[in-house]
Amino acid sequence: MADLRSRRRLHQRRRRAGGYRRHPRRLYFRYDHRPFTETEAGRFETALCDYFDARHALGCTSGTTAIALALLGLGLPPGATVLCPAFTFAATPSAIRLAGHNPVLVECNADLNLDIADLAGKLTEDVRAVVVVHMRGFACDVDAVRALTDPLGIPVIEDAVPALGARLRGRLLGTIGAAGAFSTQSDKSINTGEGGFLVTDSADLFARATVYCGAYEAGWAGTSASLTHHRVTCATSTTRSSAGGWTRSVPPWPTR
Ligand SMILES: Cc1ncc(COP(=O)(O)O)c(C=O)c1O
Repeated sequence: MADLRSRRRLHQRRRRAGGYRRHPRRLYFRYDHRPFTETEAGRFETALCDYFDARHALGCTSGTTAIALALLGLGLPPGATVLCPAFTFAATPSAIRLAGHNPVLVECNADLNLDIADLAGKLTEDVRAVVVVHMRGFACDVDAVRALTDPLGIPVIEDAVPALGARLRGRLLGTIGAAGAFSTQSDKSINTGEGGFLVTDSADLFARATVYCGAYEAGWAGTSASLTHHRVTCATSTTRSSAGGWTRSVPPWPTR
């Protein structure tokens, strides 16, 4: 009762002092009243697209998540075999597991980079993707990897977490494979405390990764709803994506 009286007195004092201040409009990192490209997330993703000269960028919660989302974006069947180098941070095979796949380790060469000869021997017909790692900022020779994987139709994801800004033969690491994954955790070149992002030119991979990321679930409600992003609009079943003038179809979402 005493508590109620003191709250009432507080309320009266506030009213006498000029009333309550109206709450300023809240601005959030990703969702608020602003157009998406004006939010912090939208501006960051647009800046990433510009820096990497990539069609799509997706901010997420960590580098591990970015690798897992890139793999999920490939739409592989659950339990697929995915190769990665034996010398890496534990997050690389963890991300493969997180995406529902089975990591198989490839040996390293004297430079502690993925050994191309061992890779060649491990590219069996079960292998559905390869995650290369630019460990400690030293570029894995993605061109040599792709010379083996492209003829087999096996996509390559770049774990470029420790290599933001580094290049291979003039191209930024993270832009050579199907997607590049980065971290913005506190000891990385861009520090957001925790965080990560992926970049890709593939609209299909980006659309799937976006749905799995949960970043736009408000616009996603089964088969008839649409998912909108500053560079992608898609709807399932008759699934279509469009980005500035081009239109293409997106295959059905994987079932889990
Ligand atoms: C090679 C590599 N991949 C993935 C990660 C995971 O990034 P995060 O800590 O943001 O999940 C790290 C972390 O340092 C890393 O070194």
